[in-house]
Amino acid sequence: MTDIDRAVHILKSGDVIGLPTETVYGLAASVDSPTGVDKIFSIKERPFFDPLIVHIHSIQQAKKYSTGWNDSCEKLAMRFWPGPLTMILTKKDNISDKITSGLATVGLRMPNHKVALELIEKLGCPVAAPSANKFKRTSPTTALHVREEFPNLFVIDGQECSIGIESTIIGFEGESAVIYRPGMIPLNELEECLNQKILIKESPVAPGHLKHHYMPKKPIITFNEKYTNEQLNMHCPNELTENMHIWNLPEDPTHAARVLYAKFRDFDQMNISAIGIKFTHHQEDNPLFIGIFNRIFKAASFILAKEITNKT
Ligand code: TXA
Ligand code: MG
Repeated sequence: MTDIDRAVHILKSGDVIGLPTETVYGLAASVDSPTGVDKIFSIKERPFFDPLIVHIHSIQQAKKYSTGWNDSCEKLAMRFWPGPLTMILTKKDNISDKITSGLATVGLRMPNHKVALELIEKLGCPVAAPSANKFKRTSPTTALHVREEFPNLFVIDGQECSIGIESTIIGFEGESAVIYRPGMIPLNELEECLNQKILIKESPVAPGHLKHHYMPKKPIITFNEKYTNEQLNMHCPNELTENMHIWNLPEDPTHAARVLYAKFRDFDQMNISAIGIKFTHHQEDNPLFIGIFNRIFKAASFILAKEITNKT
């Protein structure tokens, strides 16, 4: 039996599996299995008010589970699916309220990963899948990360995730498209595709709503290159800065995103008082880093950047 066949069998029996995607690994259940969906929330220790993303393998399947598929959806899907884009649409009754936390909308995404697409096709229905980590903690980008966090889970190994941070979430408010969670798709490409300006607006129901998220166990202090040691010591407690390990955020955004969460995990294993993530003002001004800074700032205890100081 192949890993995919075994996973399909487990999902059909009402259980959950670890699923590779190009963004991060997911903790998947069949949308048709209430016990599987319940299990996602219980093993993740995730509150029921945080809705799950539903993964589909075709546009036809997206339309089967949502209403309101319009011209904008079609354009976005043609350009970015399969890929790291989640669209928020009105749900149909075949998506349970548990999955959407009682919302009338559902987040739909077609992952750009062979294993995920084949699994969904063989299962015959979509899978609901949040990132495969305990609530608020760092998302996994390898099968090993998932196994470390959930030792009893069957995980399909689909290699290291090629993107490394979660999908861009886009929704529609009247005629306007709105980004609820930035990812690695450049804003200008979305704007060009829809021929409109798009606001990034973290919705109270999107993941960014929580002040702390994506957190490693060690505190993160993040600062740009203009901060001197004296200034760091002035803004942050000395017991954190005295044995701080400094990581220079890689220059290339694609690379930075791909390694970010694995770095968070490495830092947890080090004998250090804190992680210092140092970035440059070029990175701060580069729109390709928006999604990366979004994750770093949510994970950080102290932020020393252009306009933000000391978040906690
Ligand atoms: O890249 C990704 O999106 C990964 C992989 C596994 O596909 N999944 C992921 O899931 O990041 P999760 O649960 O960690 O984040 C999904 C977020 C939720 O926190 C939720 O707030 C938001 O998507 N979301 C889901 N359904 C929504 C809805 N109907 N309206 C607004 N936000 C929604
Ligand atoms: Mg998550």
